[in-house]
Amino acid sequence: MKHFLTTSLLLAVGVAATTPPTHFGVVLFPGFQALDAFGPLDVLNVFSLQQTNLTLSVLARNVSSVTTVPQTMNTTFGESAVATHTFDSPPSDLEVLIVPGGLGTRSPDLEPEIDFIRTIFPSLRYLIAVCTGNTLVARAGLLDEKKATGNKKAWSWVTAQGKKTHWIAKARWVRSSEKIWSTSGVSAGVDGALNFMETVYGEDIATGLAQYLEWNRVTDPNDDEFAAIWGAEDVLPVE
Ligand SMILES: *[C@@H]1O[C@H](CO)[C@@H](O)[C@H](O)[C@H]1NC(C)=O
Ligand SMILES: *[C@@H]1O[C@H](CO)[C@@H](O)[C@H](O)[C@H]1NC(C)=O
Ligand SMILES: *[C@@H]1O[C@H](CO)[C@@H](O)[C@H](O)[C@H]1NC(C)=O
Repeated sequence: MKHFLTTSLLLAVGVAATTPPTHFGVVLFPGFQALDAFGPLDVLNVFSLQQTNLTLSVLARNVSSVTTVPQTMNTTFGESAVATHTFDSPPSDLEVLIVPGGLGTRSPDLEPEIDFIRTIFPSLRYLIAVCTGNTLVARAGLLDEKKATGNKKAWSWVTAQGKKTHWIAKARWVRSSEKIWSTSGVSAGVDGALNFMETVYGEDIATGLAQYLEWNRVTDPNDDEFAAIWGAEDVLPVE
């Protein structure tokens, strides 16, 4: 009996550890970059057509529409997405969190977003930080003593948001840890998401998704031309 219980427990733990995640979430805030969010999400949208047990939660301060329009710029041009959950009552079984960037990451009032990322992180299996979304993850302390990357056009600002992070300039994405994918600017989120899919679900799935999306995929994490274009260089952590 004891042996049986032990074996069952090991099996249960083994299954939990190896079954790919099904519950995804994305953090939205005013002025998020559309492609940062919808690039990785569209990879999942397509995946959900073949794997029908996926769930998506859209997290924001309020269960209302969240606009891409940057509140600090003189424009009203943009579009909105609707949140399903507030940061105060997230789903309990979220497994993967996507954190997009955008001009909204410059808002002086982002404590609710940063607190949410910090609080939910221990219960997540994976986190994908895209573009300037890396600054929110860095400010949550989750990139301390880790390597990360981010938007190259905003490189000096991005790297100043995480003084304990080793920022890698010439990267399409960086595996900051087993749990964290840190991607470069905007479109790089799709390559990071496809690498996540390859790592977690297998190469055939990732290849199939890229072909469905007709995406010219970058498969080498060091294949990045934008560091040179924007003059971005590695930034070491400040001791
Ligand atoms: C979700 O579906 C896939 C494909 O059918 C399956 O392998 C996986 O075990 C399922 N995950 C859960 C948590 O049911
Ligand atoms: C969002 O919720 C906060 C409280 O969490 C409230 O103060 C704020 O007015 C709400 N904003 C909108 C746009 O509804
Ligand atoms: C914003 O744009 C409008 C329309 O072009 C212009 O009238 C206004 O002065 C601008 N405001 C600022 C703060 O730049």
